[in-house]
Amino acid sequence: MSRRFCIAPGGRLTGTVRVPGDKSISHRSVMLGALADGVTEVTGFLEGADAISTMNVFRALGVRIDGPRAGRVTVHGVGLRGLRGTPQPLDCGNAGTAMRLLMGLLAGQAFESTLVGDESLSKRPMRRVAEPLAQMGARIETRDGCPPVRILPVDTLHGIRYRLPVASAQVKSALLLAGLYARGETTVVEPAPTRDHTERMLGGFGVELERVGAAVSLRGGQTLRATAIDVPADISSAAFFLVGASIAAGSDLLLEHVGMNPTRTGVVEILRLMGADIEVRNERNVGGEPVADMRVRAAALRGVAVPAELVPLAIDEFPALFVAAACARGTTTVTGAAELRVKESDRIAVMADGLRTLGVDATPTSDGMVIEGRGGAPEVFSSGAVEAHGDHRIAMSFAIAGLRAGGEIVVRDTANVATSFPGFGTLAKAAGLSIEERVQA
Ligand code: S3P
Repeated sequence: MSRRFCIAPGGRLTGTVRVPGDKSISHRSVMLGALADGVTEVTGFLEGADAISTMNVFRALGVRIDGPRAGRVTVHGVGLRGLRGTPQPLDCGNAGTAMRLLMGLLAGQAFESTLVGDESLSKRPMRRVAEPLAQMGARIETRDGCPPVRILPVDTLHGIRYRLPVASAQVKSALLLAGLYARGETTVVEPAPTRDHTERMLGGFGVELERVGAAVSLRGGQTLRATAIDVPADISSAAFFLVGASIAAGSDLLLEHVGMNPTRTGVVEILRLMGADIEVRNERNVGGEPVADMRVRAAALRGVAVPAELVPLAIDEFPALFVAAACARGTTTVTGAAELRVKESDRIAVMADGLRTLGVDATPTSDGMVIEGRGGAPEVFSSGAVEAHGDHRIAMSFAIAGLRAGGEIVVRDTANVATSFPGFGTLAKAAGLSIEERVQA
């Protein structure tokens, strides 16, 4: 069975929207909750397939988890040494975050585990995690650097100081989680700042970490103490509405309770550089994470050269930003974003193909894209059918392009939208996008 979106052209986005919970924080709430002593109560949990995969893996490892029910999850922690091994493969589905963080967390266990994933995840690189873990004493086997990942039991790991060759929060987090099981200190040095949810949440569970410049360190053997976690709305999901309201004349939209962690707000900064009208209101702190509401109104966007330092801070938002660039006046250039080629799909190739199908002059490069904006034209995109290649963010990006299209846009292979944003179609429709979801046998 395949799913597709059919989007009738035009419309504007208005009203108030609260997008689902943050995916990165939802994964981590279950992981750290499981390793803690005591019961962790989570609210605002993302009931998407990715976070559910993480929950099911921990259930298979002997952790009792109640929910999710209306975003509430209760994790009955088993303590740092309480996980139980299983001969069954642990299925991470489409979730790269689940697999990479689990590699770190399972590397120091006294039992063997095998991590598997779906077709997309089975093609994603795992050596970036396996190699530094091996330096810590882990025994990990992959299939040519990709899943399945087999993690063999070890007596203990030892701390290392590791300089990340790529700016990756998943690799950083995997090493910090392995560091909890290591003798001595584990230090990770980042080439550029990446999302710091793991560090913040470990702090919330009572773990002592030290940050000195680009280096973050922790000592092994520390106890995690259960806590309450309120997951903010995912800025990566809000991004489709930020772009949609910016490009559609007459839009005026309020996005509520959005996570505004400064390691995640690159999309807001880039859109503002392009001339977007985004007002941040009611800034507050929720359980160690900054949260705010955002009012976004339509604006005339202009093309920009995206500053290199903003790339890791907006890495998941480029599919949506490419749509914004097509709707801008002038040229937008993105460089230093080669990581986009190893996400749920090759997001440079797939977005360039789709944009060209819809009549946009988009040139893929090895590490980014050059897009000639058509902002002068009322109808930026021509009618056409594009492929999402099973990538949730590609599907939602082409859906919002419908707001500036001259005819119907069909997006194929959209089932994986449910990994990060269940209910996207319903929410987008209520805000003003003319979207229908079709299922084909
Ligand atoms: C994530 C880190 C990023 C991001 C992914 C979620 C995380 O991946 O793209 O969607 O939760 O740590 P990389 O670490 O590969 O950049």
